[in-house]
Amino acid sequence: MNQHYQNIIQGIFLQIKNEENPGEVASYIPELANIDADQFAVSIKPINEDAHSYGNHQTRFSIQSISKVLLLCLVYKHTGEKIWERVDVEPSGNPFNSLVQLESDNGIPRNPFLNAGAIVVSDMLIDLLEDPKKEFLEFIRDITDSETICYSENVAKSELKIGYRNAALCNFIKSFGNIKNNPDKVLELYSLICSVEMSTVELCNAFTFLANGGKKVSDGKVILTKSQTKRVNAIMQTCGFYDESGEFSFRVGLPGKSGVGGGIVALLPGRYVIAVWSPKLNPKGNSYRGMKFLELFTTATEESIF
Ligand code: DON
Repeated sequence: MNQHYQNIIQGIFLQIKNEENPGEVASYIPELANIDADQFAVSIKPINEDAHSYGNHQTRFSIQSISKVLLLCLVYKHTGEKIWERVDVEPSGNPFNSLVQLESDNGIPRNPFLNAGAIVVSDMLIDLLEDPKKEFLEFIRDITDSETICYSENVAKSELKIGYRNAALCNFIKSFGNIKNNPDKVLELYSLICSVEMSTVELCNAFTFLANGGKKVSDGKVILTKSQTKRVNAIMQTCGFYDESGEFSFRVGLPGKSGVGGGIVALLPGRYVIAVWSPKLNPKGNSYRGMKFLELFTTATEESIF
């Protein structure tokens, strides 16, 4: 492992661990509130090298919206460019669960990482695959090289119980004709996809192909073409943090994605994937320590995509 990265990561990890940890754990999904809020983990995986980690890096957590990137990759792989007829690639400048732009945009979500966008992509997955629940899991197990990654049925059920906003989004989009299946079926699959649990090491492994031109490092399998990989990374850069995407790009300078479970994954194409997990979120729904860690990391390494 590159000693330079290792020293920098250790220093930043210890510094942040000793500082105040403000923010709130996501509690709108009741099951997510039952977590030890002070857990903190970081893993970095340079391409072609094993991951190096600190803190609770073996603990799996709810990756939530980070899963939307993997969902997009699977559907994009099957449909090619047709996917963009049903979901756009513009930053929304609005919160992840916002409804407002759908009316003037005729039910076409601004991007696939908003709840609205990922709900449409989930609907597409139902029409593409015979058993989407099983095949999505097989896909993420394949790209992660881990046979034990699973959904959390408890988290998915807990989200569905209070999912009035997502139900509103799905029904509203259906009224424009951009949802083809039964909304209950779409929402069930969407919540399950968000409920996937991974550790920071597994998250790094899952995203390595996106730092490697679309190819898995372990067996060279092509997951996406180079052009598709560029596009997914570009959407992470511009839309990965909702109405804080500009701020993340400004402070960190890497494509990345956050989830309300407190995870953030980011990558430097051709170099590495880095994942941070700390459950307390800032007011925009992104991990407080995760944002801070990555800002300090790219500042110290003086490397970013810019
Ligand atoms: O639909 C939801 O609200 C969650 N399943 C996912 C939201 C999320 O992770 C937003 N991320 N920062």
